[in-house]
Amino acid sequence: MQPHQLNPLIEPQFEAVNDYIINHLHSGVPLVEKIGHYIVESGGKRIRPLLVLLAANAANYKGEQHVSLAAVIEFIHTATLLHDDVVDNSDLRRGNSTANAKWGNAPSVLVGDFLYSRAFQIMVELNSMEIMKVISDATNIIAEGEVLQLLNAKNPDTTEDAYMQVILGKTAMLFEAATESGAILAGATKEEQEGLRLFGRHIGIAFQIIDDVMDYLSTAEEMGKNVGDDLAEGKATLPLIHAMREGTDEQRKLIRRAIRKGGLEDLQPVLDIVHATGAIEYARTQAYQQADQAIAALDALPDSSFKATMIQLADLAVKRSS
Ligand code: IPE
Ligand code: IPE
Ligand code: MG
Ligand code: MG
Repeated sequence: MQPHQLNPLIEPQFEAVNDYIINHLHSGVPLVEKIGHYIVESGGKRIRPLLVLLAANAANYKGEQHVSLAAVIEFIHTATLLHDDVVDNSDLRRGNSTANAKWGNAPSVLVGDFLYSRAFQIMVELNSMEIMKVISDATNIIAEGEVLQLLNAKNPDTTEDAYMQVILGKTAMLFEAATESGAILAGATKEEQEGLRLFGRHIGIAFQIIDDVMDYLSTAEEMGKNVGDDLAEGKATLPLIHAMREGTDEQRKLIRRAIRKGGLEDLQPVLDIVHATGAIEYARTQAYQQADQAIAALDALPDSSFKATMIQLADLAVKRSS
């Protein structure tokens, strides 16, 4: 079951977001529309816009603007993916060739900029300084998170704290902005807003830890992305950090070398060590703890079917395989 099908009250709103996204890709420059439609129509789980809808509904929102707010968040996400695939040298996304593999780096970066700015055009129409602050701050921090990750690349001494700082910036901030802005739009109380903000943050951290686990465990078919992309770029993600901590001297040496070199030459021995040291279980446990914290944060909200769906979603985010 797709996450948006968890709640029949959300499904029509979710469809409205999809329509809104498609209808707001227009540009006078054909290549912009072509790449925009290509990436948007290749799918994606739309988990962040779903969070906007759920947060607004959980805070009893009765208007229509959560649809465009959800689209804003998905446009920002899509822009980060276009840029991310360039910096990560990735050639598979959502089961298709990445835009950079198909059209080159320059068009990908520029269309990414187009989608960022389209998001901000739509956001201005919401006419809320508070929402603009949350989303513009988040967008800024995402960029910092990606740069920080770049600085850590090929560094086997990357600590778990440094890793957490990166994923908080590059991923969790947008989840947090999604739920927090949904709460603000709904006129939630300060306590509800804080609960929803924290829900987004913790589910976002959990989501990225699982993404990093899947990079070693999944298949390209299931993920729609290539396995081993992180190792290829010399990223010391949580599974490797744990494997280096727990492994023998020899195992540690091998992983350190693989991170320094990048590339996929050592993927199999690295995988063997990741399994032998229990690194997958360790990372999963960290993700589960984050999901638990996300669920606990919802205590600030009154019970509703939307809150129940958010709890299910926290569970799905850590049990997912794509
Ligand atoms: C991919 O996000 C980037 C990460 C933060 C791991 P998603 O897994 O939500 O990507 P789509 O939108 O479903 O393709
Ligand atoms: C995703 O990080 C974060 C952003 C897109 C900002 P990853 O590089 O791990 O995401 P995937 O695995 O390419 O989707
Ligand atoms: Mg990437
Ligand atoms: Mg990844």
